[in-house]
Amino acid sequence: MNKTCAVILAAGEGTRMKSSKPKVMAELLFKPMIDWAADAAKEGGAEDICIVKGYQAQILEEHLAGKYKTVEQAQRLGTGHAVMQAADFIKEHIDGDVLVLCGDAPLMDSKTISNAYACHKQSGNGVTVISARVAEPFGYGRIERDENGSLKAIIEEKEADENQKKIDEVNSGAYWFNSELLLKALKTLSENHTDSKKEYYLTDTVEIIRSSGAGAGAFTAENPDVVRGANDRFQLYELNEIARKNILFSLMKSGVSIPCVDGVIISPDAQISADTEILPGTIIKGKTQIGSGCVIGPNSLIDSSVVENGVELNNVQLYSSVVKSGSHIGPFVRIRPDCVVGENVRIGNFVELKNARVGDKTSISHLSYVGDAEFGKNINVGCGCATVNFNGRDKNKTIVGDNAFIGCSTYLVAPVEIGENAYTAAGSVITEDVPDNALAIARSRQVIKDEWVSKVRPYRWQKKEDKND
Ligand code: UD1
Ligand code: CA
Repeated sequence: MNKTCAVILAAGEGTRMKSSKPKVMAELLFKPMIDWAADAAKEGGAEDICIVKGYQAQILEEHLAGKYKTVEQAQRLGTGHAVMQAADFIKEHIDGDVLVLCGDAPLMDSKTISNAYACHKQSGNGVTVISARVAEPFGYGRIERDENGSLKAIIEEKEADENQKKIDEVNSGAYWFNSELLLKALKTLSENHTDSKKEYYLTDTVEIIRSSGAGAGAFTAENPDVVRGANDRFQLYELNEIARKNILFSLMKSGVSIPCVDGVIISPDAQISADTEILPGTIIKGKTQIGSGCVIGPNSLIDSSVVENGVELNNVQLYSSVVKSGSHIGPFVRIRPDCVVGENVRIGNFVELKNARVGDKTSISHLSYVGDAEFGKNINVGCGCATVNFNGRDKNKTIVGDNAFIGCSTYLVAPVEIGENAYTAAGSVITEDVPDNALAIARSRQVIKDEWVSKVRPYRWQKKEDKND
């Protein structure tokens, strides 16, 4: 197979987004549009990717963090001009084919791209444009076919006559080109074509390639949504809705229950196994993995985490952490990054964990804070406990051994270690290590003041009676 590569156009400003960021950094399901395009290119078969940056290039550069090659288009002189900037990159792949994608059309999927590639290779065409039939073709380049049905030209909205405007098959802005033919066509384009706005149209390469004798074809995508781009935030919202429902429906097909989709937003990179239920108001971000038999939600936010099987997360915020099988978390629990919660653990309500390891079958059930801590197995933490992990300068660690019992309202002043099977009495402020099997009581003794009421209360009654007089 020939080597394939991809050029993704991402230099545009996207004025109508009214953003200080490049347009392609606008997000669909919390994932920037450029990542959708790059992932689609990669999964669609492109082995090497080059991104054309321009407006706010350094923001895009930082985001890409060296993952892909980039070239800069200093002046935005059109889609053809943008591809010219990547000429050296295309030359590196001169024996193969190059995919050109628009960075602002995130619904172009890998399956459409690879199907179009198969069609491109089978036909032996010099260029294969990915098109779609849409209800509202306004604004898109129209696909003009000849009497045999093969692609003749792409006519931009501005240049289309009344008949051409009626064509409902439009250019998606994604194409497979024979690398060598594209480079040749770009040269002609730079010499010959400028429109009134001095733009170089990539779409004009189609006619150039066709008239050079190589074939030009259009691969019509099954799903017309693949052509949709986001030029403003309303269109971005519309794309979000389409992408959101696509993902929810495909999860449902794979066996995930979503009885009501209200407020349910799931990242395209999340994996959820069958027989898990997602309840309203639940947002699942990043490369989160969720096992089977879980109930997630209502109103939970799960970001870049691993959740094993049979876990319940009810009104939970979970960030970059692991929750093992059979654990019940919530309601109203916040688990900050770098936590590992063991199997069959009980956490919440109103509990915060941070950088904490919690062993199997441990229970931290009410109103507690556990930070920078290592809690063993089968521990019971009473209501209202806290690890005192910060002394104003350093963060310190708390270690609690297996089977310990931390009484209600215990403060564990770190660094401190509680031994296995040890107890702390309710209300204790523990500042020193507690040995295995011991009980630590660290609070002042109770004081009884006899007949206190008869000395104090009559005075108050007296006052009240005076008032009533
Ligand atoms: C383009 C196509 C049109 C197609 C449509 C699909 C041309 C002339 N027209 O029109 O046929 O139906 O896409 O969405 O190609 N870009 C650059 N540098 C530039 C100009 C654009 O990098 O100088 C990038 C933009 O950031 C964007 C992409 O190219 O990601 C498309 O550019 P845009 O101006 O949106 O083209 P359309 O007018 O939508
Ligand atoms: Ca566009």
